[in-house]
Amino acid sequence: MSFTIRRATHEDKWGWLQLRQRLWPDAPIEYLSFDLDDKLADPDYAVFVASRGVEDLGAFVETGLRDHGEGCETSPVGYIEAWYVAEHLRGQKLGRELILAAEGWAREKGCREMASDTWLENEASITAHLKLGYVEVERLVHFAKRL
Ligand SMILES: CC(C)(COP(=O)(O)OP(=O)(O)OC[C@H]1O[C@@H](n2cnc3c(N)ncnc32)[C@H](O)[C@@H]1OP(=O)(O)O)[C@@H](O)C(=O)NCCC(=O)NCCS
Repeated sequence: MSFTIRRATHEDKWGWLQLRQRLWPDAPIEYLSFDLDDKLADPDYAVFVASRGVEDLGAFVETGLRDHGEGCETSPVGYIEAWYVAEHLRGQKLGRELILAAEGWAREKGCREMASDTWLENEASITAHLKLGYVEVERLVHFAKRL
């Protein structure tokens, strides 16, 4: 059975959470799970999954509206907040299909630009973004200080 790209529903929460854990393995489960209902209910946020039935999710993308995107000239922009394809399913265009779904949603929301980010060492993600038409506009260094 092949995968279908569709909006996530409340019934997908468990499978979606498992994929979120794989994307952010160091994040506490409480942090990854506390606002899933809010995200599904938020009209300015969309979650798409690649599914072979409710129990079998292979990939997801989360996208939302942001007032500002680095390198963008319009506002709001669609923003790729999370993007993950299970390791054994990579290289089969599921990632591309999810991003196209996210872009379609942002377009329907009136956006004319899309923005995203990834870690400097994430070569696969950087290459995939470039292949999908994204242009690198900035490299950031994050800082923190205890007060
Ligand atoms: C990044 C990721 C989502 C891509 O998913 P995917 O399903 O493998 O991507 P696709 O098969 O749709 O490929 C999309 C394009 O990127 C290219 N690409 C994807 N992975 C690549 C890699 N490792 N090296 C080189 N190119 C790659 C593909 O060749 C394709 O280009 P094409 O359509 O012009 O041939 C997936 O590798 C992943 O989940 N990585 C771990 C989590 C992560 O880094 N997420 C992104 C954080 S922003």
